[in-house]
Amino acid sequence: MSAAHMQHLDPSRRSAESGEFETALRRKIVGQDEAVGALVDIYQVFRAGLHSPGRPVGNLLFLGPTGSGKTRIVEAMGEILFGDPRAVIKVDCAEFQHSHEIAKLIGSPPGYLGHRETHPLITQETLSLYHTENLKLSLLLFDEIEKASDALWQLLLGILDKATLTLGDNRRVDLSQTLIFMTSNLGGSDISTLMTGGLGFVQPSDKPSDAMDTKVERTATEAAKRKFSPEFMNRIDKVVVFHPLRPEQLEKVLDIELDLVQRRVLDTARGQFVFRLTRAAREFLLREGTDIKYGARHLKRAIERHVVYPLANLLSTGQIMVGDILSIDWDSATQQLSFARTGESTLVTLAPPAPLFATQAISAWGGRSIEIPAQANAREAQAPASSAPPAPAPVAAKRRHDTQR
Ligand SMILES: Nc1ncnc2c1ncn2[C@@H]1O[C@H](COP(=O)(O)OP(=O)(O)OP(=O)(O)O)[C@@H](O)[C@H]1O
Ligand SMILES: [Mg+2]
Repeated sequence: MSAAHMQHLDPSRRSAESGEFETALRRKIVGQDEAVGALVDIYQVFRAGLHSPGRPVGNLLFLGPTGSGKTRIVEAMGEILFGDPRAVIKVDCAEFQHSHEIAKLIGSPPGYLGHRETHPLITQETLSLYHTENLKLSLLLFDEIEKASDALWQLLLGILDKATLTLGDNRRVDLSQTLIFMTSNLGGSDISTLMTGGLGFVQPSDKPSDAMDTKVERTATEAAKRKFSPEFMNRIDKVVVFHPLRPEQLEKVLDIELDLVQRRVLDTARGQFVFRLTRAAREFLLREGTDIKYGARHLKRAIERHVVYPLANLLSTGQIMVGDILSIDWDSATQQLSFARTGESTLVTLAPPAPLFATQAISAWGGRSIEIPAQANAREAQAPASSAPPAPAPVAAKRRHDTQR
C-alpha cells in the first residue's frame, strides 16, 4: 500500500462508553488510579469481544492495606454497570477456612446428608442474575484469599485457569464471561509500618511520595509472592497494589459517604430535608472514622453513629420535616455533634446518579430523579440556590439499602 493510502489510527483512544465508565468509577473511588485504569482496560477489551476464550474475562489480584477501597471498587463496578452492588457475587474466603465448608460454595454431592439444603453460591443462574440484554458480564469477588482453605485454593486455581467450576452435583459452571477479583491485605501491616516509620506517626511529608509508592508496591508484591504459590501467581493477569489513603483523600471519601446519606434521606417518605456539616463537624467525623492504620474502614460506622442515628431520632420525633435545612456542627462543650434547623430548604429537584448502562436500575430508583448539589456537604452552609417551594417528589416505594452496606 502506498503511503498516500495509509491512514494512521489512534489505538490509545477509548470508546465513549469506557470513558463514561471511568468517570463513574472516579466519582465513587478516590485515588487508586492504577486500579481504576485496570478496570477500564478490561472493560474495554470485554466490550470489544477480545477477551481470551476459555478463560475468565480477567483475573485481578488486589493487594494493599485495609480500608483503601479494594472491596469498594468492585461493588462500585456492580453499581455502575448493573445499578446494584449486589451484582457482585462475593465469596468471603474467611468463611471457607475448613475444607468441608466448601459445600456452601458448590453444593454437596447428591445423596449426601443435607444435600437438598445446600444452595451453591456460585451457579450459572446466580452468575447471570444481573445480566442485561446489553451486558452479559459477571463479577465474582473472592475476598481475603489469604484465609482460604486448601480445598478453596484448588477450586480457585481451576477457575482461574479454565474458567469452569464443577458443582457438587456435577453441573458445570462456565465462568468465561466472568471477571474474577481477589483481594488480600497481605503486607498491609508492613505497609502501615512503612507509612508510620514504625512509630505510629505519618512520615514527614518531605519524603518524596513517589519513593513511598514504589516501596508500598514492592512490600505488598513481595508479601504475596512469599505467601502464594507460583502456579497461582502465574494465573493472575494483573496485580494491583492499593495505596493507603492520604488525609485529603480520606476527606473526599467522607464527602462521598455523606452524599450517600443525603440520598438516603431524600429517599425516605417523610425525611426529605437537607443537611450540611460545618468544618468542625467534618473534622470530628474524620477523626472518629479514619486513620493511617485502618484507612476509611470505620468511616461509615462513625457516620452512622454520629449522623444517621441522631437524624433518625429527629425525624421520628417530628423535629425535622420535609423541606428543612439542618446544620450539623461540633459542640466542644458536650464533645458531640449538635443539630440545628437553619431554615426551610428549597432544593429537592434532584436527578439520580444514573447507572450507566442498566435500564433496570432506573426502576430501582422508582423512576425518580435525584441530584445532590455537588459537594453539598463539602462546604459550610451556603445560601440555597433557588427559592422555589420544595417539590413534593413522589416517594420511591422501595428504599435503596444497597448503597450503604
Ligand atoms: N479509595 C476509596 N474511595 C472511596 N471510598 C473508599 C476508598 N477506600 C475506602 N473507602 C471507604 O471505606 C470503606 C472500606 O473500604 P473497603 O471495604 O474497600 O476496604 P478494603 O480495602 O477492602 O479493606 P480490607 O482489606 O479490610 O477488606 C468503603 O466501604 C468505602 O466507604
Ligand atoms: Mg475488603
